[in-house]
Amino acid sequence: MFAPGANDNDAESSSGPSLEIDTDNDRDSAFGGDNQSSYTMSVTDSVYNYKYENGRRYHSYAEGKYPVPNDEIEKDRLDLQHHAFRLTLDGDLYRAPIPKDLQHVLDVGTGTGIWAIEFADEHPSAAVIGTDLSPIQPTEVPPNCSFLIDDIEQEWIFHNKFDFIHTRAMVAAIKNWDAFFKQAYTNLAPGGFIECQEITFPAMCMDPAITSDMSPFLRWSDLFIEAAGKIGIDGKSAHKFGPKLQERGFTNIHSKTYKWPVGQWAKGGKMKLLGKFVFEDCMDWLPSSALGLFTRVLGWSREEVEVFLASVRKELKEEKHRHFYARVVVWYAQKPREAGTSDASAYDIAKEEESLESDEERTARFRRDEAAAAASAPESAKSPGALADTTADLSIASPPGEIPTEAIKEPAPTTEDSLVAASADQEMTTPGPEIPEETQPAQEESKPEETIEIPKTAEPSVTAPTDAAKTADTEAAKTASEVADTAAKIDA
Ligand SMILES: C[S@@+](CC[C@H](N)C(=O)[O-])C[C@H]1O[C@@H](n2cnc3c(N)ncnc32)[C@H](O)[C@@H]1O
Repeated sequence: MFAPGANDNDAESSSGPSLEIDTDNDRDSAFGGDNQSSYTMSVTDSVYNYKYENGRRYHSYAEGKYPVPNDEIEKDRLDLQHHAFRLTLDGDLYRAPIPKDLQHVLDVGTGTGIWAIEFADEHPSAAVIGTDLSPIQPTEVPPNCSFLIDDIEQEWIFHNKFDFIHTRAMVAAIKNWDAFFKQAYTNLAPGGFIECQEITFPAMCMDPAITSDMSPFLRWSDLFIEAAGKIGIDGKSAHKFGPKLQERGFTNIHSKTYKWPVGQWAKGGKMKLLGKFVFEDCMDWLPSSALGLFTRVLGWSREEVEVFLASVRKELKEEKHRHFYARVVVWYAQKPREAGTSDASAYDIAKEEESLESDEERTARFRRDEAAAAASAPESAKSPGALADTTADLSIASPPGEIPTEAIKEPAPTTEDSLVAASADQEMTTPGPEIPEETQPAQEESKPEETIEIPKTAEPSVTAPTDAAKTADTEAAKTASEVADTAAKIDA
């Protein structure tokens, strides 16, 4: 671990940023440079001896550990993805019920540091540390934010216990989640929270007929799972955090699953914006995820990867009737205030699932749920650890002028629901199951919460907000452009 300079906790803090997502926000440019932050410069320059492979740049500290690049393309993707996460959480950075004036915060695998920086801005009392294998964080940071170059799968050595430990998009990074939760628990102060916001595999499609045999995108998802699995990364791990957290001793365990439409096919302005972000994110995540893994692990040539990815991009751009989405699971859990005396098994896991529905539908559903709850809620619903299980409703946008025809449906029990209570605010009495892995809608019983309409409109064209900011390293860009030319021909 390379230690940073001490945090200047007493320094005047800047005011918190707006919670509104601003698509014109040019802040990304502040994250674009490879300025060497003073904390690592003075310790070692070797972390900047980046490795280059197949036209992409990779970390050098703990070389080879993380199979995803750390170059400008990837940094821009991460900053864009950050906006997708904030939009998902209605502008927030986290869901855990932490106090505003907390003291010590750790962001594990901080990437460009954008979450840590914005958290530090919004919580002037907190000393926020972001750790990563790559020194890709900016120099200009709030006085209460600092970064460490560190392998989080090694033993943690921190001077303070944390009030909040956060991870995001680490499913392709952390191999041993049991060990991770163990270290997190040890390094949390009693009463402190951990939160993991994870994008999970496999990729999903609303349309039952679309399977990975015919869909390059779903095939990419399968290949990613296969290749990652071969190097000890479980792409589906985020579904299994519940029992791990519980076993470790965490309490007050919550999870909520959100759906991210790939493209602008889902109903509602928020979902359209989110879909646009996710589409662009995906366009860059495809090569970021596949170039290293497929060549190193599956033995593909670079050209084979590029040709395959061109077919994936083509599908995502042209096959408008294929309604793909990704799932994001947000977990949070608490270290008991009286750590060591708690019986974890006495606590429940509260699980929710996000609706992707229009504002009108959501309002109507809330009203209906409230009325139903008022009429029949059992007393147990008011007990601690109560379950809030909002069922998902992923709606495809109707053509302009057409009145949406889908009715609000009563949720019927599903496989997931059999493990948890079927309606909001019911207490779960069985301890700590993992979230059953959702199968493709094609393979499951029809899930009543997922209303599907046949789309009749073309997907609005998507412009790439980050293109202007993409300046790959010169040498890498040269070789990358050759391959890109080949791929462009295939795309054409
Ligand atoms: C997909 S990025 C997510 C970045 C950031 N959490 C965000 O949401 O923007 C994963 C990050 O984890 C870092 N990482 C991977 N393995 C790591 C490890 N063993 N220790 C520390 N950081 C790691 C990578 O360098 C990368 O920046």
